[in-house]
Amino acid sequence: MVQKTLVLGIESSCDETGVALVRAQTQPGATALPELLAHALHSQISMHQAYGGVVPELASRDHIRRVVPLAQEVLASAHCALADLDVIAYTRGPGLAGALLVGAGVACALGAALDKPVLGVHHLEGHLLSPFLSADAPQFPFVALLVSGGHTQLMQVQGVGHYQLLGESIDDAAGEAFDKSAKLMGLAYPGGPLLAAMATQGNPRAFALPRPLLHSGNLDFSFAGLKTAVLVQGQKLVAGAGVAQFSDLPQQQQCDLAASTQAAIVEVLVKKSLAALKQTGLQRLVVAGGVGANQSLRQQLNQECGKRGVRVHYPEFALCTDNGAMIAMAAAMRLQSGLQQASRHYAFDVKPRWPLDAIAPIPAGASSAL
Ligand code: KG4
Ligand code: ZN
Repeated sequence: MVQKTLVLGIESSCDETGVALVRAQTQPGATALPELLAHALHSQISMHQAYGGVVPELASRDHIRRVVPLAQEVLASAHCALADLDVIAYTRGPGLAGALLVGAGVACALGAALDKPVLGVHHLEGHLLSPFLSADAPQFPFVALLVSGGHTQLMQVQGVGHYQLLGESIDDAAGEAFDKSAKLMGLAYPGGPLLAAMATQGNPRAFALPRPLLHSGNLDFSFAGLKTAVLVQGQKLVAGAGVAQFSDLPQQQQCDLAASTQAAIVEVLVKKSLAALKQTGLQRLVVAGGVGANQSLRQQLNQECGKRGVRVHYPEFALCTDNGAMIAMAAAMRLQSGLQQASRHYAFDVKPRWPLDAIAPIPAGASSAL
């Protein structure tokens, strides 16, 4: 008989509260992908904008306000009741400790109250598996380019839970390079999408900015120096024009610097991804995380991978940045793969720092707390 498991997923690692419901076949040998029934999201971006970045304490307090109404919203839209839930999943890390504690606390309290098992999910595993929610779902094995606000990593992915780190940023993440450069240009937080929008009107070759570690011979990244180069270039332009600040420069110059910055970040991401594909001999690339929404990155990856016969998969645009669907999906895929079982152990902790390749496969029947 087909056994269906209804998984509620809660994401609260940073500045988005996300809740979602996924239904999965979890009997041994089941291969059908879990199905997303409903998801709801509240972004705190406008709240943090006044401070130029995420204020952790405000983030935690807002998660507390939002999480229960969002859970009620997804249950109602999927025509499900609390009693129908089989598993409650939550983001256990990495992320802001206080923010993570809200999701973990609510999930474990719900689990205890309903006598349903809970499961802590790695946030980056959620991003990594989010393309399985798209109409064009990938197949294992693949190379994953994880480009979120806090992480830039290339991973070799053999299957659920089998992640080998190939390279990562030794300082800023690509998302930080976008956001910090955008801040220097006077754009609001998080500046990545705003910088990308300005870049569409600019010349990507207008300014020669560094491509850090492009020829390092390994798959690591470094973006901190690029941000400094953007700062220096911006200061030169401001001094040359005799204006008070970057936003007083002619619009075209602003767009040219935005386009040149994006071009530098994208070129490094594309070339390192191609090098990872060559090194592993794999013919499939999965891009995940907020920067995966960047159009220029998608365009250049599609073009370069197309030339090499490599398939590229992305999450749906709406699921590139943080959301509950990816957490419910990752939990469902871990359950389905037999790697992990949910547990009725309701004492919880969170892992603000947690490397993704530390998630070694856990045999079924062993302790289910990661
Ligand atoms: O994955 P995510 O939601 O957060 C973390 O888990 O960290 O990614 C957020 C990051 C931010 O740095 C944001 O500026 C960036 O993704 N981002 C973009 C775009 N959309 C989001 N960066 C460049 N172009 C975009 N279109
Ligand atoms: Zn994220």
